[in-house]
Amino acid sequence: MPPFNLSDYDFKMFKDLIHKECGICFNLINKTVLETRLMDALKSNSMDNLRDFYSLISLDNQKLMEFIDDVTTNLTKFFRIEKHFEVLKNDILPSIMEDKLKHKLKNISIWSAGCSTGEEPYSIAITCLETPKIENFNVRIYASDISLKSLVKAKEGTYDGPRVLSIPDHYLEKYFDKFDDKYVAKRKIKAPITFDYHNLMYNGTQNNIDIIFCRNVLIYFDEQGQSSTIQRFYDVLGEKGYLFIGHSESLFGFNTKFKYESIKNTAVYIKK
Ligand SMILES: C[S@@+](CC[C@H](N)C(=O)[O-])C[C@H]1O[C@@H](n2cnc3c(N)ncnc32)[C@H](O)[C@@H]1O
Repeated sequence: MPPFNLSDYDFKMFKDLIHKECGICFNLINKTVLETRLMDALKSNSMDNLRDFYSLISLDNQKLMEFIDDVTTNLTKFFRIEKHFEVLKNDILPSIMEDKLKHKLKNISIWSAGCSTGEEPYSIAITCLETPKIENFNVRIYASDISLKSLVKAKEGTYDGPRVLSIPDHYLEKYFDKFDDKYVAKRKIKAPITFDYHNLMYNGTQNNIDIIFCRNVLIYFDEQGQSSTIQRFYDVLGEKGYLFIGHSESLFGFNTKFKYESIKNTAVYIKK
């Protein structure tokens, strides 16, 4: 229970700023989440006045980035939506490799957009390494997020017991080193990944991407934020590029050229 109720005016002021900076939407349903996170932000800045805090983050970009980091929800897990990884290994990567071979191309690029603390890109890296004949290709995984704290954890690649529960035992042994009660990602799954700060509200630097994972991120944006992000994904994907989104997300109703396809009962969007 937060110790203060944001007035309508203050609520609007903070929610508008957050929306403008990163697309994340707060409304009356999740207002208490913002109240709690604001309270924590005030505490860590040793401040007790909301308006002073607002002035601080309006003038100091570093403080604003830290605050935006504080309001993100970074919940994630290894092999979240297992079927995505099965389809990646058994259907999508083989099809991409076949196509690349025909065109004498060797690079496969994958973007984990909104990668949080790294569980998603490491799951992608493991799946790629487990895909037959992948050794003939150069796989690069670009993993980005707006949360710098999450990116630090992701780069470190160190996870404690409960966080590795969803990793099958044989992968855990093969791709992680155990130190006391911690598991550290091995070089072979770290090497293909580049972690970087990126705000999905802006254009990225990569092009010709083969596969984008942007799961459980769009739900935090409003319709306009979702629509512009989907269009940016379309633009940066190469011909026949694939897009995975979360279970509770859909491109239905958006004016997009992405084609919905169900591969083994798993929803995938393809650039056609
Ligand atoms: C719930 S996590 C999802 C993590 C992972 N994709 C998964 O499905 O497990 C959502 C992530 O999106 C990031 N995010 C939210 N808004 C963003 C933005 N505008 N640009 C980049 N990342 C953003 C958050 O920081 C957070 O780490």
